[in-house]
Amino acid sequence: MPGCIAGLFACVYRDGEVHTIEAWYNIAMKQYKHGMTGTHKARSGVFDEGAHDLLAQVNSSLAIDSFLARYDLLGSIAHAKMLGKTGIVSAKDSAKLVKGLNSILKDLDAGTLELPAEEDIHMAMEAALSDRIGAVAGKLHVARSRNDQVALDMQLFIIDASGKIVEEIGDLLETLARRAQKHIATVMPAYTHLQRAQPVLFSHHLMAYAFMFERDAARFESVRKNARKCPLGAGACTGTTFPIDREFVARELGFDSVTENSLDAVSSRDSHLEFLFAASVLQTHLSRLAEELILWSSHEFGFVRFSDKVTTGSSIMPQKRNLDGAELIRGKAGRAAGNLMSLLTAVKGLPMAYNKDLQEDKEPLLSGYRTAKDSAKLMTLMLEEMTIDDVAMRKATEAPGSFLLATELADYLASKGMAFREAHHLVGEAVKEATLLGVGLENFTPEDFARLSSLIEGDVYSWLNVDNAIERRSVPGGTSKSSVRAQIRTIRRRINALRKTRN
Ligand code: ARG
Repeated sequence: MPGCIAGLFACVYRDGEVHTIEAWYNIAMKQYKHGMTGTHKARSGVFDEGAHDLLAQVNSSLAIDSFLARYDLLGSIAHAKMLGKTGIVSAKDSAKLVKGLNSILKDLDAGTLELPAEEDIHMAMEAALSDRIGAVAGKLHVARSRNDQVALDMQLFIIDASGKIVEEIGDLLETLARRAQKHIATVMPAYTHLQRAQPVLFSHHLMAYAFMFERDAARFESVRKNARKCPLGAGACTGTTFPIDREFVARELGFDSVTENSLDAVSSRDSHLEFLFAASVLQTHLSRLAEELILWSSHEFGFVRFSDKVTTGSSIMPQKRNLDGAELIRGKAGRAAGNLMSLLTAVKGLPMAYNKDLQEDKEPLLSGYRTAKDSAKLMTLMLEEMTIDDVAMRKATEAPGSFLLATELADYLASKGMAFREAHHLVGEAVKEATLLGVGLENFTPEDFARLSSLIEGDVYSWLNVDNAIERRSVPGGTSKSSVRAQIRTIRRRINALRKTRN
């Protein structure tokens, strides 16, 4: 029974079919069996009998690689045009191939394509074409191999998928910049070692993530750029004897150039690895932010609250408002890193040129794409649905026992000529004393300060103030309002630049 593939990334099941592992397995088994019988196109006359069911099952990839359907068709259309243009097939046959392939593309886009059961997406598409236009379909695969075909499909997927992730990151950056702008003056404690360290603007904290995500977008842009070499024409491994026009195919498909070495073209998975690396760094950044959202929304912090839309409940504890979305984003960092590891390990130690191990690239790539795209989108939604508690944040920043202004006092003494190391020690003693008294350093009297050091004068009190401590850090990249505003401007410029390169 053929599955129904609706849209680009739809699974192979018919609508409404139960998506269990068993259902997947049963459908796949039927496809494998069918795919490995006498009608199977990849089994030439060299075989007398069909393959064992178990090999058929392990060997088949249709249940997974059907997400390549659109790219496979686009690649075949360009190839069929080139075959006609170079006279490798007649103009009439080329036109028939292109027309047939376009009609499959139309059904694919309409969500009505019935995928014939074959070993993989490439064989399934050839079978679909032969169902529509008959024996002439057999002319499509001249001067091409599934090895360069799959390399092409994946390259097109990676270019497309990277662009889509960049778009999601663009939205995320915009939300971060907007929220930072709106809460420009909200103060909170900056933490090191998860201990309160110094006062910081909440907007500065948000912009820290914006710069991480901006680098992620740049990484995906570079993946896109590096993938713009067309591998078609490499054949099985050594090129082809037919007078193909590789540049024409490359231009038709929007590539910048063609790959330079046929063995490399069919056996390298650099773009895949770069994509998975970019995806796992992005997921790591998303995971760090997710972790903070979970902490901040806890009763212990109470800095933010999330709307019902992005909050989940408990089946037993009625009071619970859990942040499952953030936890899943954090959890999926393991999956993202695993995807990279699984492909790195599969590629390591492969002799030239194509080996079937490379079929194992599909699952990590598809999972990497979906995970990155969905997680970035969900993070944007969560940030939009977050309410800030300015009062709670300020309270944590000014709490006497937190001593967030201790560095200010040390800096004050250093600015009056004391060696910083000495000031650091002296303020440590002051903190010890203040802790015993249960007060903050700003509560010391002029006499307390005089006992500490003769360098301390009345102006010390203006240093021991959260807002002043923040504003004094107007160094580029610092936490003052003017610095954060400059950061927001920088990110907005980069969002615009990203959008321009995309269009
Ligand atoms: N399904 C295969 C893959 O994804 C296509 C290439 C098959 N090539 C071969 N020589 N068996 O890698």
